[in-house]
Amino acid sequence: MGTEAANWAYAEDFVEEDRVVLAARDVADQLGCVPVLPGAGRALEVLARAMRATTAVEIGTGAGVSTTYLLRGMAPSGVVTTIDVEPEHHKAARRTLQAAGFAPERARLITGRALDVLPRLTDGGYDIVFIDARKSEYPAYLGHALRLLRVGGLLVIDNALWHGRVADPAQRDQDTTAIRETLRTVREHESLTVAMLTAGDGLLAAIKG
Ligand SMILES: C[S@@+](CC[C@H](N)C(=O)[O-])C[C@H]1O[C@@H](n2cnc3c(N)ncnc32)[C@H](O)[C@@H]1O
Repeated sequence: MGTEAANWAYAEDFVEEDRVVLAARDVADQLGCVPVLPGAGRALEVLARAMRATTAVEIGTGAGVSTTYLLRGMAPSGVVTTIDVEPEHHKAARRTLQAAGFAPERARLITGRALDVLPRLTDGGYDIVFIDARKSEYPAYLGHALRLLRVGGLLVIDNALWHGRVADPAQRDQDTTAIRETLRTVREHESLTVAMLTAGDGLLAAIKG
């Protein structure tokens, strides 16, 4: 294993995952939805804790792996609004959150297409928006996220490196192009302070100024 790969493996395994998250990963695997990698999950938890977040929007619930990390980091009264188009994924996520010991009122699960649901959420009402659903829709999610975040709120985008494709100019498929466009918009936005975190498959983090 080269140094880079060894460092990456070490960083991803640095904090062991508990049985609730590992079980949710198995379910996600069966459902065919890919959860955040361990390093990205842990980074989400730390960021949510640093924000003392009480309100978050998650776009792409899956089986609830990232939802669990978010809620673990958020204030004890914190509520995550999490959107997914697949009812089966929401059923699985509900079970994950219950197994993790969260009261049902801590998660508002809205089943539907993100671009139909997001316009119904309150402007400036959220401490965190986490984007992890359909890659080709990332540019549109970003527009909503910037509207939904309060000033000082945190935007987090998963798969910012998209398995090495974003950094490779030869990759021009729709998903890669959409992620690249989203990253560029964030980087060039005058009121965002941005950092590319290399945890997991890349987490772009930005504070709304
Ligand atoms: C990568 S998975 C999310 C994984 C989750 N964040 C985690 O870490 O456990 C992407 C999810 O987005 C959902 N999805 C795909 N297209 C969507 C859309 N247009 N609107 C809402 N959800 C969508 C899929 O059903 C899937 O559960």
